Amino acid sequence: MTAQSEDTAPDPEALRERARTALLAARDRTTLLTSCVEGPDLTAQHSPLMSPLVWDLAHIGNQEEQWLLRAVAGREAMRPEIDPLYDAFEHPRSERPKLPLLAPKEARGYAAEVRGRALDVLESTPFHGTRLTEAGFAFGMIAQHEQQHDETMLITHQLRAGAPALTAPDPDPVSPAFRGPSEVLVPGGPFTMGTTTEPWSLDNERPAHARLVPPFHIDTAPVTNGAYLAFMDDGGYDNSRWWTPEGWALVRDNGLRSPLFWRREAGQWLRRRFGVTEVVPPDEPVVHVSWYEADAYARWAGRRLPSEAEWEKAARFDPASGRSMRYPWGDADPTSERANLGQRHLRPAPAGSYPAGESPLGVRQLIGDVWEWTSSDFLPYPGFVAFPYREYSEVFFGPDHKVLRGGSFAVDAVACRGTFRNWDYPVRRQIFAGFRTARDGEGA
Ligand SMILES: [Fe+2]
Repeated sequence: MTAQSEDTAPDPEALRERARTALLAARDRTTLLTSCVEGPDLTAQHSPLMSPLVWDLAHIGNQEEQWLLRAVAGREAMRPEIDPLYDAFEHPRSERPKLPLLAPKEARGYAAEVRGRALDVLESTPFHGTRLTEAGFAFGMIAQHEQQHDETMLITHQLRAGAPALTAPDPDPVSPAFRGPSEVLVPGGPFTMGTTTEPWSLDNERPAHARLVPPFHIDTAPVTNGAYLAFMDDGGYDNSRWWTPEGWALVRDNGLRSPLFWRREAGQWLRRRFGVTEVVPPDEPVVHVSWYEADAYARWAGRRLPSEAEWEKAARFDPASGRSMRYPWGDADPTSERANLGQRHLRPAPAGSYPAGESPLGVRQLIGDVWEWTSSDFLPYPGFVAFPYREYSEVFFGPDHKVLRGGSFAVDAVACRGTFRNWDYPVRRQIFAGFRTARDGEGA
C-alpha cells in the first residue's frame, strides 16, 4: 500500500491487492512454521501455555472460514462439527491436546481449501457497503489474525525442546555504533491518539481522539541485556524495594533470577534461542521479561515505564506539523531498512539499529525488535465500539492486562503500526517482550 495519512482515502483496488499479498504471505509463514518439524512435534503440547501447532493451523482455517466464507460471502459451514474444537473461548490452551483435533494432513487440507475459496471471495467482493467489507476490512483482519498466530507458533517453537528447526540470518551490527543520546524530551501538550481512518485498524485502536500528555523523557532505544545484567548484578532480584508486591511474590514463588531462557554457567550468562545455546549478547534489547521485571528494572534505574499514551506520542507525534503519523518515520509502510519485523531475523537487532526508522525526535526501534511493556492497563478509548465481535477486545479490557506496543521481530508489518495495541498478563515471559524507560519532564 502507498503512503496514507489520516487525510487521504486508500484506493480500493490497491487495498484488494494488498489483502491478496498479505493473505499469501501469512500462509507462506504458516506453512514454514508447520512444516519445519515432524508430525509428532505438530500434535505435541510443548508447554501448557501453548496450543499444539496443529491446533493453530486448523484454527487459522476455521476463523477464515467463519469470517470470509460465512460472514462475508454467506456460505454454509464446511464442517460445522469442528467449530467448537477451534473456538479459543470454549477450550483453554491446556485442554486443547485432549480434543479430537484434525490430524496434521487433514488440518493442512482444510486450511488450504478454505483459502482457495476465500481468494475467490476476495476477487468478487465489493469493498464497500458493510462495515465488514469496507476497505476490505475482513480480509485485512484475517491476514492479521493468521500473522498473530504465526507469532504464537514462533513462541511455541521457542519453548520446544530439541534440535533447532528454524534458521534466519542475524541482523547487521549497528554502523556507526550507536552512542545515544540515551533519552530525548517529548514536549507536553495534546496529540492525536488512535485512528479512525487506518483501513484495517482493529476496534481497540479506534477512534482517533485528542490526548493531553505532559512533557516526559523517553529512552532512545530499548533497554539492553547489558543494562539489565547491571540490575541483576546489583541484586535486583534480591531486593524487594524495586518490586510491586505482586512482582515480589512472583520472584519468590518462582525463584526468578534472570529473564526466561537464561542460565548461568562457568561464570557467564547463556540463553537458549530457538534450540541454540549462546552467550547473552550485551548490546541486544532484553527479551522474555515479565511486566513486573520491566517495572522493577525501571524503578532500580530511577525511572519508570512509559504510559501507553506516552509511548504512542513518542512513536507518532511530529513536532514540526503537530500531526500524528502512522509510524515513527512517517506514513510509508515498514521496510527492512526501517524496522526488524516479520521473522526476517530470529532475534532483536542491536540497540540503536535502524536509523532510517527513527522518530522526528530521534527515538529508535519503536516498531519491531521487541514488544514494549507500558505502565498502562488495557482500556477502551473514548467512543470505543466493539467490532466485529465483543471477544476481539472488549472482554479483555480492565486491570488484568497490561498494554504492549510496537511489535517484535516476530510480528509481520500487516499487524504492526503506530496505533496497534497488544495486551497480556503482567506475569507473561514467553512472549517476545522487552521495554524502554521514561521519566517526567520539567513541569509535568
Ligand atoms: Fe485466534
